[in-house]
Amino acid sequence: MPGFEWFGDEERKEVLDVLDTGVLFRYGFDQARKNNWKAKAFEAELAKRTGVRYCHLCASGTAALSIALASSGIGAGDEVVVPPFTFIASIEAVLNAGAVPVFAEIDATLCLDPEGIAAVVTPRTKAILPVHMCGSMARIDEIQRFCKQNGFILIEDACQSLGATFNGKALGTFGQMGCFSFDPVKTATCGEGGAVVTDDKDLYTNADAYADHGHDHIGNDRGLEGQLFLGANYRISELNAAVGLAQLRKLDAMLAKQREHKKAIKEALTQFPEIEFRKIPDEKGDSATFLSFFLPDESEARRVAADLGKAGVDACFYWYDNNWHYIRQWHHLKQLTCAARLPLTLLESCPDYEKIELPRSDSIIGRTISMLIKLSWTEDELQQRIEKIVQTIRG
Ligand SMILES: Cc1ncc(COP(=O)(O)O)c(C=O)c1O
Repeated sequence: MPGFEWFGDEERKEVLDVLDTGVLFRYGFDQARKNNWKAKAFEAELAKRTGVRYCHLCASGTAALSIALASSGIGAGDEVVVPPFTFIASIEAVLNAGAVPVFAEIDATLCLDPEGIAAVVTPRTKAILPVHMCGSMARIDEIQRFCKQNGFILIEDACQSLGATFNGKALGTFGQMGCFSFDPVKTATCGEGGAVVTDDKDLYTNADAYADHGHDHIGNDRGLEGQLFLGANYRISELNAAVGLAQLRKLDAMLAKQREHKKAIKEALTQFPEIEFRKIPDEKGDSATFLSFFLPDESEARRVAADLGKAGVDACFYWYDNNWHYIRQWHHLKQLTCAARLPLTLLESCPDYEKIELPRSDSIIGRTISMLIKLSWTEDELQQRIEKIVQTIRG
């Protein structure tokens, strides 16, 4: 990844189809669009690929999360269990739904720990929101079982894990709804885009309507459509869908290339007994967008991360200091004073995020380095990269 590395004639063709008709809207204009339905085609192909009955393509992964939460009836005061290692969008979506994010510990999968979830649920818990980080999976079978046993809604944030599977089943399809992102740096990109998938017809109907002001999309006349409820504009344009459609068709080739590149780097790192790899519950299902590993302690992780930068090994991440992905740096969440002031309405029911302690997650993320796996590396570039990484870790 990212998928833009492989832009080519396929993306151009799909976009030109749309420009040639001038119909950028994903609904209606039946005559003018000359049978070009890029968003619909994308939805059908992603549903088939993930093995679900329904898919709704929308403006972003963040929008997908908001749509999934709203469609599942999660709202004011409901508690949603979330991980402290994700992209801040997962937390924002919960807050914007009027619900309360409750943080649980992660484990060596870099995702929510099932025991960690069990430790924080309360009578107000309505949903569990595991995030399949960095291309691979949480212990999703255990989380699914826990949700079923306790009647919790399971919504998966699979925004970073398109194409990944657990025991042959697509991530994002274990709960009531799954969310994907096709933003500019994702495995397959629409430029900006996202999707929700589900097997539940009612949830799909809710999602399809909520993403477009509650319109029911029955019939051809938008002015006379039914209104199911109030919603928002989370629509995708046909141009974005067109790019994504071409990208989605390359997904298998992308996954194969990522797996090949990741395997080569990982094999080179096995010579270091002090390195422990991120736990992947089903290695075969890893989408291989990242290689993540643990150093023995925080100071060694910091040393390696800094030296990788100095050696010119780009696209390496030390998440513990990252403003977007780990709770330690989410000062805006801790202060709850965003410009929109939405979270302020929840101050009374929100935990004091400043005081939250997640020692296990701190210990794991403090020792973690992730390396992005690119599609475009030549064999020479890959070998040079491996040499630099090995030299850096040796110190
Ligand atoms: C885990 C996770 N959730 C949600 C999102 C939001 O996706 P988008 O950027 O498409 O809004 C991202 C984007 O990076 C993400 O990594």
